[in-house]
Amino acid sequence: MDSLVTERLLLTRPRMADSAPLLAYREANRAHLEPWEPQRNDRFYTMQAVEERLRQMARQAEENSAVYWLLRFPHSAQVVGECSFTNIVRGPFQACHLGFSLDSRHTGQGLMHEALVAAIADILDVHGLHRIMANYQPRNSGSEKLLRRLGFEREGLARKYLKIGGEWADHVLTSFINPRDGETPYA
Ligand SMILES: CC(C)(COP(=O)(O)OP(=O)(O)OC[C@H]1O[C@@H](n2cnc3c(N)ncnc32)[C@H](O)[C@@H]1OP(=O)(O)O)[C@@H](O)C(=O)NCCC(=O)NCCS
Repeated sequence: MDSLVTERLLLTRPRMADSAPLLAYREANRAHLEPWEPQRNDRFYTMQAVEERLRQMARQAEENSAVYWLLRFPHSAQVVGECSFTNIVRGPFQACHLGFSLDSRHTGQGLMHEALVAAIADILDVHGLHRIMANYQPRNSGSEKLLRRLGFEREGLARKYLKIGGEWADHVLTSFINPRDGETPYA
C-alpha cells in the first residue's frame, strides 16, 4: 500500500518531494535521535545527503528489500516521524528489522504505537512476513515499553551489537511473530 491512515496520522511512502520536510525533521531532532542511532556527520544534515537517502529508500523498495514510511498529521507537509522495515529476507526466514523515531515535540502521546499498529499489519498481512525483529539499547525505556505494548517478545541480549555514536553498544533483541503464520501465500 502507498499510504496508511490511522486515527491521528497519515503514513506515506517516502518520495523525492519529501526531501525538504525530511531534512527539517532530521535537523530539529538531531540531539533527540543521536543517542540511539549510528554516528552522523554534518553532511548527513544536508539536502544532498537526504536526497541520496531517499533514492536509496526507493531502490530498496523497488527490490522489495525494505518498506519505509514517513509519519505526518493529516493536511500537514511536516514530517513528524519515520518507521522502516529493512533487511527483508524471504526464503525460509521471511523476516525483517523494524526501526522507528518520532519528533521529540510529539512523544508521550501514543503516536508511534498508533503508527506501528498500522505499519505492522501492512508488513504482515500485505507483504506476508513471518517475523519482525526490533532491537534497542537496555537504557532505551521508551522503545522497551513501546515494543512490549505492541507484543514483541524479548529473546536475549546481544553484546556490542550496533555501533551507536561511535561505540559498540549492547542491544536487547526482540521479535514479533505473525499470529497468522502459515496462512500466507509466501509460506
Ligand atoms: C521511542 C519513541 C519512538 C516512542 O514514541 P512515543 O510516540 O512516545 O511512543 P508510544 O506510542 O509508545 O507512546 C507511549 C507514551 O505515550 C503516552 N500516551 C498518551 N496518550 C496515549 C494514547 N492515547 N495511547 C497510548 N499511549 C499514550 C503513554 O503513557 C506513554 O508515555 P510514557 O512514555 O511517559 O510512559 C520516541 O521516544 C523516539 O523517537 N525515541 C528516540 C528514537 C528511538 O529511540 N528509536 C528507536 C531506537 S531502537
